[in-house]
Amino acid sequence: MPEVRALNKAAGEPATLLSVSGIDVGYGRVGVLQDVSLAVVEGQICAIVGSNGAGKSTLLKAISGLLAPTKGEISYQGESIGGLSPARIVQKGLLHVAEGRRLFRHQSVRSNLDLGLYGAGLTREDERGRLTEVLGMFPVLSEKLDLAAGGLSGGQQQMLAIGQALMRSPRLLMLDEPSLGLAPVVVDQVLETLQKLRSQGCTVILVEQLVERALEICDACVVMQHGRVIGRGTADEVTASGLIEHAYGAV
Ligand SMILES: Nc1ncnc2c1ncn2[C@@H]1O[C@H](COP(=O)(O)OP(=O)(O)O)[C@@H](O)[C@H]1O
Ligand SMILES: [Mg+2]
Repeated sequence: MPEVRALNKAAGEPATLLSVSGIDVGYGRVGVLQDVSLAVVEGQICAIVGSNGAGKSTLLKAISGLLAPTKGEISYQGESIGGLSPARIVQKGLLHVAEGRRLFRHQSVRSNLDLGLYGAGLTREDERGRLTEVLGMFPVLSEKLDLAAGGLSGGQQQMLAIGQALMRSPRLLMLDEPSLGLAPVVVDQVLETLQKLRSQGCTVILVEQLVERALEICDACVVMQHGRVIGRGTADEVTASGLIEHAYGAV
């Protein structure tokens, strides 16, 4: 397996925005991740795939500071972020859209978007600018600003959950199963949005059960099984290696 590359722009290497080195993570005494390492290159979409229970969500929670690794290092923009609170990590532009679209269902679409800016310390003018940008990305939400989030369709709720994160202009956006429960045409829209974000320079980590769809749009892929990384490479490399089938076959 290739070693995790360090931030090394000067040498013409791709710039690593996030690097996870040898982390162990668990819940209380229950160990889940073992010796997980990966590097995410700035401006790319990195897909993380693996069957249910492989540890994908646990990995995202560790990166966003919700779970503390018992071993190893996580660095972002060349600095260690291990031990920082989730709020500090968000302030650095690293956003996590959790599984299951955690919105305030009884609050309006507008309030949910505004909540994305909680603690950001922007001027009113900048806040309005962000809202305009996000609504430009998801025009359907502009017609629904005063409706309760819980009344939106599943696809619109997913757009809102992503929109809430985009209010912070993330440098690195992590999405956990964004297509869950969505109709295929809506999945297309979500994946198109991620490609658009990449074209604007945003780096994306995508955890996705629709593996083939994730492989179509990703620049790099990490395959997990039983709490470990069992392979990484381009979509073609991991497909040709048979690792994907292995990861899903051996449940
Ligand atoms: N809150 C929790 N407490 C204890 N164990 C958990 C918790 N959440 C997940 N796990 C366990 O961690 C393992 C990995 O889960 P998860 O990271 O959710 O996998 P994935 O997202 O790949 O489906 C599973 O064995 C799961 O049972
Ligand atoms: Mg999960």
